[in-house]
Amino acid sequence: MMLKNDLLLKAARGEKTERVPVWVMRQAGRILPEYRAVRNKLSGFIELCTTPELAAEVTLQPVDILGVDAAIIFSDILVIPEAMGLPYQMIEQKGPWFENTINSEADLKKIKIADPESDLAYVNDAIKITKRELNGRVPLIGFAGAPWTIFSYMVEGSGSKTFSKARRMLYTQPELSHKLLDMITESTIKYLKMQIKAGADLVQVFDSWAGILPPNQYDEFGLKYISKICDAINEVPVTVFAKGAFFARRGMGQLNCETIGLDWNMSIEASRRLIGNTKTLQGNLDPCSLYGSFSQIEKATKEMLTKFGGYKHIANLGHGVYPDIEPDKVKCFIDTVKNWRAD
Ligand code: CP3
Repeated sequence: MMLKNDLLLKAARGEKTERVPVWVMRQAGRILPEYRAVRNKLSGFIELCTTPELAAEVTLQPVDILGVDAAIIFSDILVIPEAMGLPYQMIEQKGPWFENTINSEADLKKIKIADPESDLAYVNDAIKITKRELNGRVPLIGFAGAPWTIFSYMVEGSGSKTFSKARRMLYTQPELSHKLLDMITESTIKYLKMQIKAGADLVQVFDSWAGILPPNQYDEFGLKYISKICDAINEVPVTVFAKGAFFARRGMGQLNCETIGLDWNMSIEASRRLIGNTKTLQGNLDPCSLYGSFSQIEKATKEMLTKFGGYKHIANLGHGVYPDIEPDKVKCFIDTVKNWRAD
């Protein structure tokens, strides 16, 4: 199937494009009333993730309603712990919660390396349905959490301000930590390969909790495993988004991936210098700037685009869009990118 709009893939491969492509992290869901309408018919978030027809429907909504240059499959990074043997619940207004967590060698024996073809067949199906319904309009992004972020939830059992239980394990049980990270990495590689086989045109690895580790530990417990994933995935372009890991930008420049996501704390000029010229950069408008007026959003977006220079850039926010942002403000960001041209 030929893509009618392949701006994102071209930009990821470092090719010149007639304009900068744009999509928004967490674009599927939350901000759209159309999403909530589908979601409210069900028992909850997990039922939506595991019902392929409906997951496909909400994946397409931002393409139709916001006009983004890519779809991202509707799912969650936490499907990997679930497939490895730690089921979770998504508690309204609170977030994820795991009944069982990993604390010891004995706990490790109770989990397994995921078998995505059976454990995550619903994602496989959702991607196939989405690809059929997209009919080549825009590329489809597949994704997974980075091993360190998935480890954090498997040890902590929920969200946390500090993730100090997960961080404690790196100090008190480094060998166990590496064993768990290895299992997550192997599961993730299999999972991403399944998504690619089903039709994902590009994949993104989300390391949401990268920024809480000191640089030496991030090299040892974070980047090392992301690097294994990058080396294993050669079928499609890979984007690595390590939120808060400003201290690891040089190392990110060495990864075997095409695109590096920047958060809004990372200066564009310094990031380009540290990462080098070979990679495409993605980002990085402050998600909170979308609380501003339409003219403020336009101005901030144009400033960002000018700094990236219109080449080897995929426009996005510096993190996922917040649930209380008005869709029209997101649309203003997207339209500003689509109308902008480098001089
Ligand atoms: O980007 C997209 O639109 C695709 C879908 C997607 C979701 N989660 C759907 C979701 C993606 C890419 C994710 C990634 C994800 N999930 C991350 C990494 C990105 C980031 O934001 O740092 C993380 C850390 C998670 C874990 C997670 N999922 C948490 C902590 C929560 C609860 C808080 C929150 O963000 O809402 C979720 C729930 C979740 N995942 C929702 C959606 C649409 C909201 C659930 C609902 O509809 O009730």
